[in-house]
Amino acid sequence: MNEKFIKAQELTKKYDQEHLLAFYNELSACEQENLLDQILSIDFDLMNELFLQAKAEMEGGTEIKGEITPIGCVEKSALSANELKAYEEKGRKIMKDGGFAAVTMAGGQGTRLGHNGPKGTYDIGLESHMSLFEIQAMRLKKKKEELGVNIPWYIMTSKENDAATKAHFEANNYFGYDKDSIMFFVQCMLPMIHTNGKVVLCEKGKIKEGADGHGGIFTAMIKSGVAADIKKRGVNWLFVGGIDNVLVRLCDPVFVGYMEESGKMIGGKSLIKRDPYEKAGVFCKKDGKPYVIEYTEISKEMAEMVDENGQYVYGDAHILCNMFNSKVFDVMGDKGLPYHTAFKKTAYIDENGNEITPDKPNAYKFEAFIFDAFNFFDDMAILRITREEEFAPVKNKEGEDSPATAKALYEACGEEIY
Ligand code: UTP
Repeated sequence: MNEKFIKAQELTKKYDQEHLLAFYNELSACEQENLLDQILSIDFDLMNELFLQAKAEMEGGTEIKGEITPIGCVEKSALSANELKAYEEKGRKIMKDGGFAAVTMAGGQGTRLGHNGPKGTYDIGLESHMSLFEIQAMRLKKKKEELGVNIPWYIMTSKENDAATKAHFEANNYFGYDKDSIMFFVQCMLPMIHTNGKVVLCEKGKIKEGADGHGGIFTAMIKSGVAADIKKRGVNWLFVGGIDNVLVRLCDPVFVGYMEESGKMIGGKSLIKRDPYEKAGVFCKKDGKPYVIEYTEISKEMAEMVDENGQYVYGDAHILCNMFNSKVFDVMGDKGLPYHTAFKKTAYIDENGNEITPDKPNAYKFEAFIFDAFNFFDDMAILRITREEEFAPVKNKEGEDSPATAKALYEACGEEIY
């Protein structure tokens, strides 16, 4: 009997997950090997802990522990021409000297968009038919032309979309950007768990796993060697953004210069919520430290609260445009961020080997959120920008925040975005 199988059998017995090997004898040698590798890579103690947390959340709801207070920000439009020029020059110099890198998080599943392939390969219907990846590559190319240096570009993928992402870059000749300045790294996955505590089998030989959320970026950077590479290159500032904002300024010298001047280690761009109920988390402080309170967590009273000028007190939306000093890895260590639970619908194999497609949520998925990192720091610099200039997300297939709205916003800006 093979050693891996014996180990997997012991583990599944110990953690009451024996169903994972129920169809083992029906699998091909290759499928057997993959299943054993999956089982052996699972941290079952962590999964038990997360399952108990999920159950408690479902029963008691989520409640914020801590005191929420407002956080200040600087409004970009209120800066003088001289201030803007000074930030821009400072940022440009940092970029020219190799002290800056861009990071794109592209490991998400893009379930709402429903595109068959990595979200970054999606064509929103521009005349040029650029994919979301190409839009970002174009901005880096422009910076190269302007500054004469290649800005390192790190791209986070997941086990599910890594190969297809790399193939898209290869097929498009890296969009004419320097291939050696583009580095891919893969984020971790976590299994999904049924409401009865059993790990989900999505095929007879496959455990259903999901990417561990954009907050998985810090551990992924450390494990993959990206954090070390950043240090080796002497990069001080990292812009971290998502793949799905077609107006993202992934090399914005004003933001870089603003961060350097701020003396703070972390920063974020914000924009004012459309209305108090927009589905976006907002910047605030929790127990005196920076935090993002989710739209699901904020009370109606807090969401609607205005100051003496009629501005929302908790109205600065977090748009996944953040800047981190490379020293964050020293502060945060390698413990990673806490996981949050999402209750999802997922197809599974039942005890008789039949595939069941549920019509309502049946399993827990666990994700870390990048903004939980903010709470490690005493303060952060927030730059409030305008939606029309910098935020055009592609989330849904149709309607709000869809390819159609993103295309319209992109075209309204012209292609002069950096
Ligand atoms: P979202 O949270 O909007 O998720 O990600 P998504 O995968 O794009 O779409 P849905 O929710 O499944 O419909 C915001 C950004 O964070 C990245 C995404 O790729 C996107 O750029 N992300 C999200 C990751 O890189 N990894 C994750 O595990 C989750």
